[in-house]
Amino acid sequence: MQFNFLISKCMSVNENGMSILNGGQQHNQQLDEVIKIMGEASAKAQNLKQVITSPSRFYQTDQGIYIKSEGKQCLGMLKIGRKNLFHRDLSGLVKEIQPLCVLDFYVHESVQRKGIGKELFEEMLRCEIISPEKLAYDRPSPKLLGFLKKHYHLSNYIPQNNNFVIFSQYFENRKQNLNNQLASSQSTQFQYSSTPSKVEQLGSLMSQMTIQSTQSKNQQQKDSKSQTPWATDQKQQQNMYQTTTGLMSAQICKKR
Ligand code: ACO
Repeated sequence: MQFNFLISKCMSVNENGMSILNGGQQHNQQLDEVIKIMGEASAKAQNLKQVITSPSRFYQTDQGIYIKSEGKQCLGMLKIGRKNLFHRDLSGLVKEIQPLCVLDFYVHESVQRKGIGKELFEEMLRCEIISPEKLAYDRPSPKLLGFLKKHYHLSNYIPQNNNFVIFSQYFENRKQNLNNQLASSQSTQFQYSSTPSKVEQLGSLMSQMTIQSTQSKNQQQKDSKSQTPWATDQKQQQNMYQTTTGLMSAQICKKR
């Protein structure tokens, strides 16, 4: 999309021709014009009745727009923002989620299928520190669905009334993350309960008990006629058990 001014005049552009706008930033007439024209072109390309991206709908929001430009040409834009969504799974269970969403995505017709969309998308993933399956997609067009399938192998989803697409991997990874979190918290707990001082305490206690047990066995052998061996053993074992469980339960409480 050709403008009669350098795009870098109204927004900062990096060496790759990328700019990142946010809804809270200062705006000017030229910046407004870029957002307005690109928003209208995107709506037209998607056959939408309503324009999704316009200066008035963008400023004062927490949304972001990634722009790719070259001199006076704006090649594409990608708008993102967080939404509160209700997602129903196949069993009818509804989950409330707040994913980052792709709200509007457009590459100028003259440069489509040349990798500009991928470049914009990758820049957004890098800056937002997110992977494609963790995003929601607002009413994706067949071209966007093709794009996601081709570049990121995303295709499985359950259609929703709100028209947002959330790929099944969003939830699979969530489960995986939960498992990872659980595993890492268990390993943290293990590390915590295995701090050298505790291990040392337990070790010295065990060795004390071993020494006592050996001494008492020797003593028992000597006194085998006067005392039943199991009486001393049982008492000692009970003492050992009580001391060990005492130490362990102290550690468990500390963990909590
Ligand atoms: N028909 C079918 N698939 C297409 C088309 C097309 N005309 N254009 C791009 N794609 C998909 C294909 O998978 C294509 O791979 P292929 O050429 O090997 O078949 C892949 O995208 C190409 O990747 P890029 O070159 O990186 O993508 P591009 O620069 O074309 O940007 C985009 C993709 C943004 C979808 C662009 O095609 C576009 O602006 N389309 C019109 C507007 C639109 O539909 N936007 C998405 C709206 S939904 C939303 O914003 C949430």
